[in-house]
Amino acid sequence: MPFFRKSPKTNDEVDWSSLPRHIAIIMDGNGRWAKQRGLPRTAGHAAGAETFRTIATYCKEIGIEYLTVYAFSTENWKRPPEEVRAIMSLLGNYLTEALADMERNQIRINFFGDLSTLTPELRALCERAHNASMRYSKAQANICLNYGGRDEITRAVRALARACAAGERDPDTITEADISAQLYSAGVPDPDLIIRPSGEIRTSNFLLWQSAYSEYYFTDVLWPDFSKEELHRALASYQKRSRRFGGV
Ligand code: IPE
Ligand code: IPE
Ligand code: MG
Repeated sequence: MPFFRKSPKTNDEVDWSSLPRHIAIIMDGNGRWAKQRGLPRTAGHAAGAETFRTIATYCKEIGIEYLTVYAFSTENWKRPPEEVRAIMSLLGNYLTEALADMERNQIRINFFGDLSTLTPELRALCERAHNASMRYSKAQANICLNYGGRDEITRAVRALARACAAGERDPDTITEADISAQLYSAGVPDPDLIIRPSGEIRTSNFLLWQSAYSEYYFTDVLWPDFSKEELHRALASYQKRSRRFGGV
């Protein structure tokens, strides 16, 4: 557990009494991390998977209720097949391990994304990890896998359009809450803080609807190098912001 202090003292000091409920992370920079070391990109993904283990465990320890991570986007299929296979294989390893360690971790595992295009083996692992972890309610990890914000919204629009066409819904009564309820994130509060390492300043199709009022934290650190200390910096920065949600 971290050292608890009541109020922030230095720039990077975290106020442990007012943490965000939901942190989302775009786990980016694995390829560049590997390149810097003269390693294949897949070595960067393996290192990134380690960082995810550390950060997910730590978020639960400090009391973050929801952690959403971008693991594979709907656009990442454009990558070379060997790289895609390596990422999927690392995900499979992680889920196998998570299934074995479930009782120790006590983290509910959820998926955002279209799992139907994954291999049957990986899809089965996702389902098993999700079902077996449903009983834990203190901390939830949402793994965005074959996820795209536009794809998610498109699916929600289709579902509502189908209901209207079937005469079950009146288009004029559709609310923002109805749309939220059709997203992968239904029932999950919007992210308070979205972290993007690796120096890129863009969303890359991540949580487009849910991020309307999220606070962003960008850092040049590459994801495999992301540490608890870097998370502290992100939290301290978040805590200095004034969230107005359009008010005064
Ligand atoms: C993020 O790291 C992992 C995935 C997108 C799956 P990258 O592989 O995008 O790393 P860079 O951006 O090339 O460094
Ligand atoms: C976003 O990173 C997707 C994930 C981290 C899974 P990318 O590396 O795919 O994003 P771009 O291509 O730099 O926008
Ligand atoms: Mg990238």
